[in-house]
Amino acid sequence: MDDFTYDKLKKKIFLDRGFDLDKYGQDYVKRRLNARMMVLNIKRDDWASYLKVIEHNIVEYVPLFDAFSVNVTEFFRDITVWQSLRDTFFPQVIAERRQYRPASLRIWSAACSSGEEPYTIAIILKEILPADVTLSIIATDIDDDALQKAAHGVYYRESLKNLEKNYPGWFKKYFTMVSQPVDPAGAITNHTEKFQIADEIKRMVAFKRHNFLIDRAPSQMDIIFCRNVMIYLAAPVKDTIMDMFSNALAPHGMFVVGKSEIIFLGRGKDYFYPVDAREHIYRKDRRLVGQSVYPPVVERRKDADDQKKPV
Ligand SMILES: C[S@@+](CC[C@H](N)C(=O)[O-])C[C@H]1O[C@@H](n2cnc3c(N)ncnc32)[C@H](O)[C@@H]1O
Repeated sequence: MDDFTYDKLKKKIFLDRGFDLDKYGQDYVKRRLNARMMVLNIKRDDWASYLKVIEHNIVEYVPLFDAFSVNVTEFFRDITVWQSLRDTFFPQVIAERRQYRPASLRIWSAACSSGEEPYTIAIILKEILPADVTLSIIATDIDDDALQKAAHGVYYRESLKNLEKNYPGWFKKYFTMVSQPVDPAGAITNHTEKFQIADEIKRMVAFKRHNFLIDRAPSQMDIIFCRNVMIYLAAPVKDTIMDMFSNALAPHGMFVVGKSEIIFLGRGKDYFYPVDAREHIYRKDRRLVGQSVYPPVVERRKDADDQKKPV
């Protein structure tokens, strides 16, 4: 294995585009690079040949970054998490927020991919949020294509299957079929039927391009979702982003991670404690439990101004 050329390739990508591959797990990086190289007919681990491609064709960065944005997602992904949030944890946080006037709820979906996760949050809150609570949902990702799809709000039936099965009323209420083309074999399938999300849900989410490894994070969030992306990161980077997410959360804020992600290694365990270990739902600062945990209303108003600045 040619480690010297591999390092040179990583350095070139960093210098050209500021994309630091060392922040992601080495196995993941090599798998994604090899996947892209295979498309170009370059032999496995032949970093020298790929370096030449990058040196002679800057357009190569587009498919390369595509290869790194594994955008797999769906509405109500891991359904039991959403059931737990809907029945227990959203009502809990809402009740806490209503102790203060004016009551507001701020949510950040970090690494939102094409929007299925923040729209899932919006649908549930549309149904259960009392009218006296103002809501802000910020949804961010590094992938422009994914964000464009999110803004468009059109999805294949396949990505809506958990919603359709578990909350059929909401599926009917918030989605309209826009096209029903047949596949090459002449069949209508979950991968041919497309649905448009309702404007009232679309309006609830503000999408922005944001790299949570380098860009300034929003502040005073009541709930942060960062699901199914930390698994790709290298261990020391996970510690750094635990600092960042903890700072971005309001006191006793809630943090929801992916079902295969453990934040209890490294610094995560200093900041968060599980309130539903099975569903990977955490809260910040155990020592604040049972106390009046939110800053006074005046301070919240000052922070609310921060919200208007770009994340
Ligand atoms: C597998 S998707 C997760 C989508 C959604 N959170 C879910 O669980 O269904 C991972 C997303 O992380 C995004 N991503 C990767 N690194 C990122 C970073 N440093 N900042 C923001 N988004 C990132 C990718 O572009 C991709 O859309």
